[in-house]
Amino acid sequence: MIYFETSKKEKGLDFIDINIPSNQNQLEAYYKTRRDIFCLEQKLFKESDFDEYDHKAIPIIAVNHYLGAPDEVVGVVRIYEEVKGEWYGGRLGVDKSYRAFSKFICPNLFKERDVSALYQMSIAAGLIYRAVSLANYLGCQKFSAHVQEQNVKLFKRLHWNVIGELEQQGIKHFLMEAELDAYPATPIYTTPLPANNTLSLLDHVA
Ligand SMILES: CC(C)(COP(=O)(O)OP(=O)(O)OC[C@H]1O[C@@H](n2cnc3c(N)ncnc32)[C@H](O)[C@@H]1OP(=O)(O)O)[C@@H](O)C(=O)NCCC(=O)NCCS
Repeated sequence: MIYFETSKKEKGLDFIDINIPSNQNQLEAYYKTRRDIFCLEQKLFKESDFDEYDHKAIPIIAVNHYLGAPDEVVGVVRIYEEVKGEWYGGRLGVDKSYRAFSKFICPNLFKERDVSALYQMSIAAGLIYRAVSLANYLGCQKFSAHVQEQNVKLFKRLHWNVIGELEQQGIKHFLMEAELDAYPATPIYTTPLPANNTLSLLDHVA
């Protein structure tokens, strides 16, 4: 078991799926991953990073798969429409042990359900791609995010531009905007959560 835990990223990883949560456990893992990163690691929030945007945000997760079965949530991001056509992304985070990880297969990320090998992309890049291309599919005219300084370089590489500067949770952030042409409108393909979930994810499934 210990052997498996320490080496599973390198041995036997089938693929990483980047999608919306398909069951309650994945939704809980999404919030736990956010808490681990933004409360415990970065200490930007005390007990919870949940806020009013979570009532309308679409959660997106990266889930690793072994032997064809979903394993753990290893990355998260959320998107929401602030005013008609204007979308925001936020709470981008990747589990520590999966940072700077590439050379993985990511099915259904791009248009026409292509199974694409993201050999040059990280999990963060895949999450950003899913976030913006889904928002584009949902009628986004402008996609922005407040980006921590150390991550500006990552976003610039992915066709984002700096628009301004602001302070949030006491640290410097940059307001950045995605070039939408780099993120063609793409729906998501997944099994939705039951209709009684607080998020009407059914609306977004192709
Ligand atoms: C930002 C983050 C999502 C990037 O995820 P990722 O899948 O590792 O993305 P990448 O592999 O493309 O790495 C992005 C950058 O982080 C660096 N990085 C990744 N893992 C790292 C680690 N363990 N230690 C130091 N730097 C690391 C990469 O080298 C790269 O740097 P570069 O832009 O100078 O080349 C991840 O580092 C994270 O969750 N950080 C904590 C939360 C956070 O900062 N969220 C973003 C708020 S704007």
